[in-house]
Amino acid sequence: MSEATERLATSLPRVDDFAVSVLEGLSRRRKSLPCRFFYDATGSALFEEITRLPEYYPTRVEIGILEANATQMLKGKSEETVLVEFGSGSSIKTEILLRELPELYAYAPVDISESALSDARKRLTVRFPRLNIQPAAADFSHPIELPIELAKRPRLGFFPGSTIGNFGPAEATQLLRAMRGTLSPSGRLIIGVDLKKDVRQLVQAYNDANGVTAAFNLNLLARINRELDGTFDLNNFRHAAIYEPFEGRIEMHLISSSDQDVWVKGRRFRFRAGETIHTENAYKYTIEEFHLMAQSAGWAPQRVWTDEANLFSVHELLTP
Ligand code: TRP
Repeated sequence: MSEATERLATSLPRVDDFAVSVLEGLSRRRKSLPCRFFYDATGSALFEEITRLPEYYPTRVEIGILEANATQMLKGKSEETVLVEFGSGSSIKTEILLRELPELYAYAPVDISESALSDARKRLTVRFPRLNIQPAAADFSHPIELPIELAKRPRLGFFPGSTIGNFGPAEATQLLRAMRGTLSPSGRLIIGVDLKKDVRQLVQAYNDANGVTAAFNLNLLARINRELDGTFDLNNFRHAAIYEPFEGRIEMHLISSSDQDVWVKGRRFRFRAGETIHTENAYKYTIEEFHLMAQSAGWAPQRVWTDEANLFSVHELLTP
């Protein structure tokens, strides 16, 4: 375990077993792979590249909303506050908040990628030398137990990037409940949620002209080859992103170009030509739809900030 993560990780649930999840997902009648495994070192680097693509508006627009409203968002936060970020990745957006929170007690970034956590810690230590950083390498979809000196202070949650949209409605509600547990009593959550919009713009955000998103999706198969003795031929699968208007979600798939057999951990999986592995969903909400979901998870929605074109929303939720 790296130095960056040793402090909190012992009190946290272990990251899911990659092998078990992959074998289970590929055994289904409709094959699927859990999206949390995208983020090995290669996947995390490709994801950073996605966030800079011209087609991928969410990162840019959310940063604009945060920059325009951070002062107002964070007014009155005290030096006792602990900032807990779920799925912190590179912690780039966090800097916008940290600039407004010079007296923060501690910053606890939670992410599944240890390499992302340790890179972020190095960068933040230079920019904010007095900041108390307590990283946790964990799957944030399980409840997180904070060390006692953090747990006894008021907590502000931060969950940007519309990561909530990568969970189905039932799971997303569960996750919001779990976060309420981690942050309450008197907790607050700042959460980014991508909005429903023109289908073409949505689809392009997940299928860029330069194929970075395709490489990100295909890296999941490369990772299976690297770590689980997989025999996926990456030239025999292609990336696809479609919008399902009924579900209100973008789906990412890897489509088999031919009838083929693939071996993983000594087990054979058959693919028909055109058969897909469903690798990710990205649900899109209206502000009203998201409010209903937050309420059903026990949160009281407060303020909402959006951009001028109504592409993206940042919500403030309070524990009642
Ligand atoms: N949560 C963001 C979204 O759904 C970022 C993201 C997660 C993403 N996985 C992705 C973006 C795969 C592109 C491709 O948009």
